[in-house]
Amino acid sequence: MGKTSLFNTPMTETQPASSQWLEIIDRRKSCRTFDSRPLRPEDRRILEQCLTLNFRSPFGGTSRFRLLDLDTGRKDRESIRRLDTYGVIKGASCFLAGIMQDQAWGPEDMGFCMETVLLHAERLGLGTCWLGATFRSRLIAEYLGLSEGESIPAVSPLGYPAAKESATGSLFKIAARSARRRPPDTLFFSQPGRPSSDAEAEPYRHALEAVRMAPSSRNGQPWRLVVDEKAGIIHFFSNGKTGRRVSETLMRRIDMGIAACHFELVIRDLNGEGGWERLDGAAVPGWTYFISRVGV
Ligand SMILES: Cc1cc2nc3c(=O)[nH]c(=O)nc-3n(C[C@H](O)[C@H](O)[C@H](O)COP(=O)(O)O)c2cc1C
Repeated sequence: MGKTSLFNTPMTETQPASSQWLEIIDRRKSCRTFDSRPLRPEDRRILEQCLTLNFRSPFGGTSRFRLLDLDTGRKDRESIRRLDTYGVIKGASCFLAGIMQDQAWGPEDMGFCMETVLLHAERLGLGTCWLGATFRSRLIAEYLGLSEGESIPAVSPLGYPAAKESATGSLFKIAARSARRRPPDTLFFSQPGRPSSDAEAEPYRHALEAVRMAPSSRNGQPWRLVVDEKAGIIHFFSNGKTGRRVSETLMRRIDMGIAACHFELVIRDLNGEGGWERLDGAAVPGWTYFISRVGV
């Protein structure tokens, strides 16, 4: 894609975005080192309030979330000790545990809802980091006393970022090439094999950019979107790769929920219309179809 592409201009240099979420999404990056301060009571109160809002996703699941705060007493302190992150996360005062239900679209629902909570945390100036692999889920699941059919595929620390990322944190960023994102012409298509032109993508440009910036497991960025500009429909696919392990496939499904969340928050800010549907006949050979955003 040439230099003139609308996607190549840093968002801050383009017309001011009227989406509050776009700005938050733009500045978000995973944080693995925190300054150990407990959450300010006001921040904690807002987060707790946020959890009571019971965000619902277009995937129709019932994921739920728990805050585990180091400062709320011995019991939670013990749980944090159990929430072993193999030394990847340092100094976090609080964790968010994502509790997934054994439902058809459980992982996508969890991805969508948990990312909504994490972006609210970012909005408060807190650092976050999705952890799907580098934490021991069994101990924390035992501690929370999950019901039949529930599991914890991911958690995130919540806290105030330290001035400097630890050596381990920096290593993770380098290993996952975290700062890199795939170019738009490898993610957004007007039809399979044909990248969207700037004109076709223009009406959705901010929401598409929000998808492009989304966090993903190992920075895999599995999302592939087909933009049907005439019909006002965006179809969400993944690149169809299945992980070598079940857990990798699970993470990719969570990634798809995160992408849908980013798209929804921004499109809703900019153009409050439409909704989500699973459409019969949306298929691309080699890709996996998830859902479509209609009426945009
Ligand atoms: C579902 C999911 C699982 C992740 N699991 C881990 C993990 O186990 N350990 C870790 O350090 N980072 C993990 N990450 C963070 C990604 O590595 C990170 O989002 C990606 O490299 C992009 O970097 P950024 O978030 O700074 O933009 C995960 C991200 C997602 C979305």
